[in-house]
Amino acid sequence: MPSWDPDIYERYKTYRDRPALDLLLQIPSDLGPKQIWDLGCGTGEHAALLAARHPEAKAHGLDSSPDMLAAARRRAARVEWIQGDISVFAPDIAPDLIYTNAALQWLPDHQTLFPRLAASLAQGGVLACQMPQSFDQPWHRALRDLAAEGPWRSRLEGIRGVRPVADPSQYYDWLSGLCAEIDIWSTTYLHVLEGDDPVVDWMRGTGLRPYLDALPDSVEREAFLEAYRQTIAAAVPTRADGVTLFPFPRLFIIARR
Ligand SMILES: C[S@@+](CC[C@H](N)C(=O)[O-])C[C@H]1O[C@@H](n2cnc3c(N)ncnc32)[C@H](O)[C@@H]1O
Repeated sequence: MPSWDPDIYERYKTYRDRPALDLLLQIPSDLGPKQIWDLGCGTGEHAALLAARHPEAKAHGLDSSPDMLAAARRRAARVEWIQGDISVFAPDIAPDLIYTNAALQWLPDHQTLFPRLAASLAQGGVLACQMPQSFDQPWHRALRDLAAEGPWRSRLEGIRGVRPVADPSQYYDWLSGLCAEIDIWSTTYLHVLEGDDPVVDWMRGTGLRPYLDALPDSVEREAFLEAYRQTIAAAVPTRADGVTLFPFPRLFIIARR
């Protein structure tokens, strides 16, 4: 499990929030949930929003990272923050809403995970999920290639970063036996990033973390980061006007039992 740094993660908050809010807006408006879970809640912003939107509900935010949860706990929100692993999520009371934004791409075996989450829902309950479709994007491919080639190869062997998200039709197949309504779509956001090395900076908040965690000291981490900066400068170049266009595809799933 990689470490997470809430400060670095929040640096691109406006961009990261957009899909989270787009997902939130598609939760059926007639849903009056009593039990809400945000799985992989991170710093807790969306769990807090859901709790405020449904004051009659009991809201829980679950995450495996103590650092992310420490930031979540500083919120004045009516949410129970729980440290735990989504892969063994088994609530005592069936949730009416499972919301999970940018988290399930870190977990394996979606063929089992998605039906298990859907089966845990109360009748009429909703699973609302968003996952980046970034595994095959140049900045993730460059990271895997670099890890497999450089002097750090033996240290980084076997590191698992984000996993590929399956084809949308597979999620439909995995959920359709359990859910009466399924809505799946994807959106590519064209982020317009400014400053030096913004894609590397973005990745330091997410995809780079397992690799940096596996390197023993700051010298090796800096050498790896510098090599990654150079690769990214060629793969996702900064334009003459100083901005870096960062096209980011994301998959959305709303499934109702
Ligand atoms: C990219 S962040 C997203 C955080 C939040 N949902 C948001 O949209 O801001 C992914 C989060 O998933 C959590 N996570 C990853 N794998 C997990 C697992 N197996 N169980 C629980 N949390 C996990 C990480 O600790 C991290 O906080």
